[in-house]
Amino acid sequence: ATIYPDRSNSAGPNLDISAQAEPFFAQLQEYQHCQWQAHPIIDGESVSGATQTVCSPRNRDEIVGQVQWATTADCEHALMVAHLAFPNWRNTSVELRAKLLETLADQLQAHQVELIALCTREAGKQLHDGIDEVREAIDFCRYYAVEARKLFRPGAPLPGPTGELNELFVQGRGVFVCISPWNFPLAIFLGQISAALVTGNTVIAKPAEQTSLIAHRTVELMLEVGFPADVIQLLPGSGKTLGTALTQDNRVTGVCFTGSTQTAQLINRSLATRDGAIATLIAETGGQNCMLVDSTSLPEQVVKDVVQSAFASAGQRCSALRVLYLQAEIADKVIALLAGAMQELNVGDTWYHHTDIGPVIDTAAQQQLLQHIADMQSRGRLIAQSPMPEETNTGSYVPATAVEIESINWLSKEQFGPVLHVIRYKKSDLNDVIAQINATGFGLTLGIHSRNTQLALTIADQVNVGNVYINRNQIGAMVGTQPFGGQGLSGTGPKAGGPRYLPRFITEKTRSNNI
Ligand code: NAD
Ligand code: ALA
Repeated sequence: ATIYPDRSNSAGPNLDISAQAEPFFAQLQEYQHCQWQAHPIIDGESVSGATQTVCSPRNRDEIVGQVQWATTADCEHALMVAHLAFPNWRNTSVELRAKLLETLADQLQAHQVELIALCTREAGKQLHDGIDEVREAIDFCRYYAVEARKLFRPGAPLPGPTGELNELFVQGRGVFVCISPWNFPLAIFLGQISAALVTGNTVIAKPAEQTSLIAHRTVELMLEVGFPADVIQLLPGSGKTLGTALTQDNRVTGVCFTGSTQTAQLINRSLATRDGAIATLIAETGGQNCMLVDSTSLPEQVVKDVVQSAFASAGQRCSALRVLYLQAEIADKVIALLAGAMQELNVGDTWYHHTDIGPVIDTAAQQQLLQHIADMQSRGRLIAQSPMPEETNTGSYVPATAVEIESINWLSKEQFGPVLHVIRYKKSDLNDVIAQINATGFGLTLGIHSRNTQLALTIADQVNVGNVYINRNQIGAMVGTQPFGGQGLSGTGPKAGGPRYLPRFITEKTRSNNI
């Protein structure tokens, strides 16, 4: 039986099948050297601003395009347009809004190769990550279209005294500011926007500085399929400048944010200092994600899942594994296999299908991660580091690194890259380990490897996280199948791609009519 009979997740090209790979690569070549342009889009019009050149993290000499940044004056203009557009958009039928999202999904599909090329060149993503990115964006559009139809379906009248008609309605809240990160520059960027729009809100989108070109191309596609120009405004530019201007404005009724915990806290404070209405904040943030491996688990399977969880996408997933806890009896065996597997990882240019680990987003991230690795190496024990071919000198590459440390307390913050910390534990200390993980305050993903089902379920119950994965990797949540999001320092919930996400974007109205 299908879980969602009203929709299915998208497939994307399978590069292991030559009949699909050959046309894909032929089309991809068309985008190998092209450049894209981005600028603020307000009421459907391009606005000019100070120009920045966008270089690829794969190769610092490769220019991907130019972006013009928005100013605080553009924020004011965008707020005015979005605020004025709200009453009309709120009153459009949910069917029209949902249909627009479904048409957009088809448009993304039609432009998938260009979008994948952009993900690879602007964000340094591997090709298969780019494919998954487009798939996830399509899935968000189709899933939220279906969920919105359910949410807005008129309910039966509520019970009440004879002669009185009591009804409950839902509607959009107003202007939503959607602030997104660079690591899912299409899927999260559009996931936020599509949820806000389909529920009848107007949107001001502020993409991450590093991935403005992808965001701009996406908004162009939205306008092409018929979204009214006044319901979606795009403001590329500085998070600090634009973010502060937007979150301080009383016309903003909600903020949907994905990014670091620290930025979410700043936004929360900024919203709290306003005099106006109390705004909704939906925040999905970082993690200090762990995996617990007990002595009953299968070492080969563990290593396969650890390598994927820690190093896929160069570790730049909020879900990625950061701390691997190995029960002492199995630790040496797993560590030896892990060290061997890491020697086989290809670090390099993401334009090629055989690459396992691409660059991190920019030189600042690279330097910070290399400094962290050096610190951990001096205090702990280096287990393994993947080889770094010469070609990686041109971009912001970091070797996949595994280092044994004594305690999770050595890690004061999330390290957003391909760095795995390994800790041995005694079976008798399991409760302490769980307490230490909970004490970090983060609560995003948890991996468990054990063939003791009861123990695995008990651990899953006791660790305070949003997503638990047992005997598999802990990344790549699927829309509608693994609703995704954390708790505590990792986010407010509700989960993206889950059935309770859209209700956070609406407000309710009860009408009692004594006819
Ligand atoms: P970031 O917090 O630096 O930036 C995120 C966005 O916030 C960007 O658009 C940025 O311009 C903007 N911003 C910065 N300062 C701001 C301010 N003062 N006011 C308003 N907006 C501001 O995060 P990042 O480096 O782009 O992304 C990586 C982080 O995102 C990691 O911590 C990762 O764990 C997290 N993340 C979480 C999820 C999730 O679903 N939980 C998903 C992806 C990424
Ligand atoms: N949804 C993304 C994942 O699960 C963050 O990896």
